[in-house]
Amino acid sequence: MPFAISASSVIGLTVGYRHIDCAAFYCNEKEIGSALKTLFDDGLVKREDLWITSKLWCTDHVPEDVPKALDKTSQDLQLDYGDLYLIHWPVSMKKGSVGNKPENLTQPDIPGTWKAMEALYDSGKARAIGVSNFSSKKLGDLLEIARVPPAVNQVECHPVWQQPKLHTFCKATGVHLSGYAPLGSPGSTAAINNEILKNPILLTVAEKLGKTSAQVALRWGVQMGHSVLPKSRNEARIKENLDVFDWSIPEDLFAKLSEIKQERLIKGTVYAHETFGAYKTIEELWDGEL
Ligand code: A2P
Repeated sequence: MPFAISASSVIGLTVGYRHIDCAAFYCNEKEIGSALKTLFDDGLVKREDLWITSKLWCTDHVPEDVPKALDKTSQDLQLDYGDLYLIHWPVSMKKGSVGNKPENLTQPDIPGTWKAMEALYDSGKARAIGVSNFSSKKLGDLLEIARVPPAVNQVECHPVWQQPKLHTFCKATGVHLSGYAPLGSPGSTAAINNEILKNPILLTVAEKLGKTSAQVALRWGVQMGHSVLPKSRNEARIKENLDVFDWSIPEDLFAKLSEIKQERLIKGTVYAHETFGAYKTIEELWDGEL
C-alpha cells in the first residue's frame, strides 16, 4: 500500500515508504529530484521500486501545455517517466498566472485536457493517468468520454470525510481512490477544522486498540482499500504513520467510525466565483458532494 511523503521527509524512503506524492503546485519538485538522485546514486533505493505521482496544475490545462508541464516536472524530478500523472483540479486558470485569484479562473475543457493526458500515457512518459478533486459526477462524465480511463481519483478522504458515495462509485468503475489529508491536515490553513485527530470516536477506538488516533485514521483508509498520503516532517511521526500494517481495526470498532459526523475540510472555496471560471458556488464545484 503506497504512502506519500513531503520533500523534507525523504527520510521516509529510508524507513520504508515507497510512494512520493508530488505536484508542480507544491514548488518542491526540484528538491525532491535532487534527494532522489542522491538516494539512487547511493544505492539506497531503486527507481523501479518507487511509485512517483505528480500533478498537472490548473494553468497548464490547454492541450499543448500539458506535455510541456510533464516535461518540466520530469526534468525537476530528474526522472524519465512518472508512475502516475493527475489533473490536479477540475479547474482551469490563465496560462502563467500566479496565485488562486478569481480573475485567473477560466472555463475548463476537461475532455480536451484529458486527450492530452492520454497522449502522455501513449508515449509512456506517464505510466498511468488520473484526476484529483473530482466529484462522482465529474468522474462519471470523464469516464463517458475517456479512451484511457482515469486510473486514480485523489481526493480528501479520512474518517471525518469518508466519501461513501465516491468510494462506491470508484469501486464500481475500477478507479482507485487515493486519500489526501488522511489526518485531516492538522496545522494547515486550507482545512477548516484542524481537530480531527481529537475526534472523540476516533480517540475511543485508538485507546481500545492501543494505537494513536493518526494510526487509526490511516488504518481506516487502508481497510477501505484506499491509498493514504500522510505528510510529516517529524521522524518519529513518519515511522508511526507507517506502522499500520500488522494490525487491523476489528469490525465492531470499524462500524463505530462510520458514526463520526461528516465534514469536508478542504472546500476549494477559491475555485468558485460568481463571475469567473466554471463554478459559481462550491456546490457546483463538488456537484453537491459537500
Ligand atoms: P508534522 O509534520 O509536525 O508531523 P495530512 O497528511 O492529513 O495533510 O496532515 C499533515 C499534518 O499532520 C502535518 O502538520 C503533520 O505535522 C501532522 N502529522 C503527521 N503525522 C502525524 C501524527 N502521527 N500525529 C499527529 N500529527 C501528525
